[in-house]
Amino acid sequence: MCGIVGYVGSDKALPILIEGMRQLEYRGYDSAGVAVAEGGSLTVVRRAGELTKLEQALDGNGMEGTLGIGHTRWATHGPPTDGNAHPHRDCTGNIAVVHNGIIENHEALRAALQAEGHELSSETDTEVVAHLLEGAVAQRPRPLLDAVIEVIAMLEGAFGLVCIHAEQPDSIIAVRKDSPIIVGVPDGSGIVASGIPALLPHTRDVIPLDNRQVAEIKAGSVSLFDFDGEPAEPRVVHVEWDISAAEKGGYEDFMLKEIFEQPEAVRNAMRGRVDLSGRILLDEVSWDADVLNDITKIVVVACGTSYHSGMAAKHAIEHYTRIPVELDLASEFRYRDPVLDDRSLVIGIAQSGETADTLAAVRFAKDMGAKVVAVTNVVGSSITRDADAVLFTHCGPEIGVAATKTFLGQLVALNLFALYLAQERGAMAEEKVAETIAAMHELPAQIEEVLALHDDIQRAAKSLSDVSDVLFIGRGVGMAVAMEGALKLKEISYIHAEGYAAGELKHGAIALIEEGVPVVAVMTGPSLYEKMMANVQEVRARGADTILIAPRGDERAKALATELFEIPLTKPLLTPILDTIPLQLLAYYAAKERGLSPDKPRNLAKSVTVE
Ligand code: AGP
Repeated sequence: MCGIVGYVGSDKALPILIEGMRQLEYRGYDSAGVAVAEGGSLTVVRRAGELTKLEQALDGNGMEGTLGIGHTRWATHGPPTDGNAHPHRDCTGNIAVVHNGIIENHEALRAALQAEGHELSSETDTEVVAHLLEGAVAQRPRPLLDAVIEVIAMLEGAFGLVCIHAEQPDSIIAVRKDSPIIVGVPDGSGIVASGIPALLPHTRDVIPLDNRQVAEIKAGSVSLFDFDGEPAEPRVVHVEWDISAAEKGGYEDFMLKEIFEQPEAVRNAMRGRVDLSGRILLDEVSWDADVLNDITKIVVVACGTSYHSGMAAKHAIEHYTRIPVELDLASEFRYRDPVLDDRSLVIGIAQSGETADTLAAVRFAKDMGAKVVAVTNVVGSSITRDADAVLFTHCGPEIGVAATKTFLGQLVALNLFALYLAQERGAMAEEKVAETIAAMHELPAQIEEVLALHDDIQRAAKSLSDVSDVLFIGRGVGMAVAMEGALKLKEISYIHAEGYAAGELKHGAIALIEEGVPVVAVMTGPSLYEKMMANVQEVRARGADTILIAPRGDERAKALATELFEIPLTKPLLTPILDTIPLQLLAYYAAKERGLSPDKPRNLAKSVTVE
């Protein structure tokens, strides 16, 4: 996610902003910028790329101002360019805004602003806020605080906002709505940031804004208000952590933090894509009905974890749309002489957007005339340039090498896409689509329930720490979960693991089962439940220790389980979104038990840019 820093006081703002932005670098970003107020005007410098690029651009700039804001941007709307980097300004150039989150109604606001004569220069959702503030401040004129309170009532979505006005140089206004903002007022100064690490060099006493709060920060004081402008009491928290612990938000590792961020990741992947009636709006795939109706087959190409989300997507797309789907490892695809034409749709999935094999597969498909949809987490990545349309997963940056929250983001985006195709082609009744969407809205709360099992999972992982092989089995979408569970375990704990179709056991793999071999079985899918039961009984009869991922309240599973993780009920095709979580945690805790570092497994990279 992006990083925000703001400073007001008696020292030069610029070095403090840059230091704060450095402390937030770990969160990932693709451009950076600062705005500093001096002599009644603002100087703004923004650069795509690393913070060092911004520092080079600032070298010798001589900004002396003592009020400023800075931002490291992780692109969501518009690629990572100088012009899309924050801060964004209004037409007068006197108001500057930095923003984390997504303004969902930015298109309507942009159109209205342009109709009033405002000139917007970026492709971002954020810039509308600066121009809305321009109008609100100009009305009387009046304090930026009042203008901010007026403007946030017009915004939909999630926003951590920090704003300054060159002609009101004694204050910073910050807003928290579903995106963190933290304030500190040390030694006659005021500092605000989106993450505690940026405050720690200055103070350990911090004031995290509550959701839907606005702060007016001055040198040495802060006043809080709710969205109606009513005053609120600040809550001061003393931070004991050091910086590296603070970066991880109190979690031991990024992987664990990212696993626990999954309720939010799922919310973000759905945000703005469904209307109140449960109808899906995928503006990204704004093709004519003719094009959507013309598709005769779909091919999914991906690698690793993304391949597993593709495996689950194949079930969803075929079930909802009745369009046949082929699934290919991207590294194999172009060498098998595939049959494609201009009525084929290829879905390339890559969290990084840079995987060499997936890029090559997508380019190959385009050359054969197919349409390409990319599913990725990284705006501006290579796959977004090669695709005809892009579905972003909007999970925020994932630092751990093991894909966790991006996998869930992919599953959500792909399920939405499958339902969208069915909706637009009339393959599914509107009520059925809405019913599935209602189930998807329940997922974040259900994920919280699964995450609450972490202590039990940690205990179960102890028994895996000294085994040499683990078998993961499943059927239907459960097989994709089994394969993902096995990949997670092997990549971070270095324990050999196989993900297997449960029905294939008797054709060979069952020979591996002997006393004490752990078998993880994914058995939440109702239609294949009895068949999974039979497979679990087979391996238990041969001495396996069974770790079962089963529907909540399932007494029969309880009777057969060495360890049981009970999962809340959801629609069968959505079960991977919940079932994967215990397996992520199992892998994480097994790696920790073996004294390994889950964030940086040996021999692996976050982006695999070679074939
Ligand atoms: C996932 O935990 C792995 N690190 C790896 O399998 C990854 O999913 C694969 O390299 C594909 O990456 P992509 O999604 O960026 O294409």
